[in-house]
Amino acid sequence: MFYGRTYELSAIKKAIESGKPELGIIYGRRCIGKSELLKKLIKRKGDLYFEGLQSARTPKQIAHFLDQLSKQTYSPRILAKDWSEAFDALTHYIHKGKHYIVFDEFPLHVYLGREKKHEK
Ligand SMILES: Nc1ncnc2c1ncn2[C@@H]1O[C@H](COP(=O)(O)OP(=O)(O)OP(=O)(O)O)[C@@H](O)[C@H]1O
Ligand SMILES: [Mg+2]
Repeated sequence: MFYGRTYELSAIKKAIESGKPELGIIYGRRCIGKSELLKKLIKRKGDLYFEGLQSARTPKQIAHFLDQLSKQTYSPRILAKDWSEAFDALTHYIHKGKHYIVFDEFPLHVYLGREKKHEK
């Protein structure tokens, strides 16, 4: 059962009705309901939801991203050597019309930055 969040849901829905591409960031302390809120929005055909992996380096994050893309679009798994190629694949599946593309746990997707720091 999903409770409340009427203000948050209407603010996000208003953004998608704006007639232009919108980027929104949802942040808050642990277990406050960020993921649940995002999942509540992913309802339409063409909406996509991606979750980063805990403690996984870039190749694993990309592989996981492509697995999720393949599952949600019912299409064959694509190969990509970096995020640029992975996002190219994503643009291929973004349909006309209005859709939510969610990156939950975004900092996990961009593990690359931390990797480079540690390699110095
Ligand atoms: N609006 C809601 N109604 C009912 N249950 C909710 C609601 N929001 C969150 N919950 C429940 O609270 C728990 C934590 O929610 P959720 O996983 O969405 O938090 P989070 O902010 O994404 O946490 P984290 O920072 O760890 O990713 C889950 O069990 C979820 O089902
Ligand atoms: Mg979460």
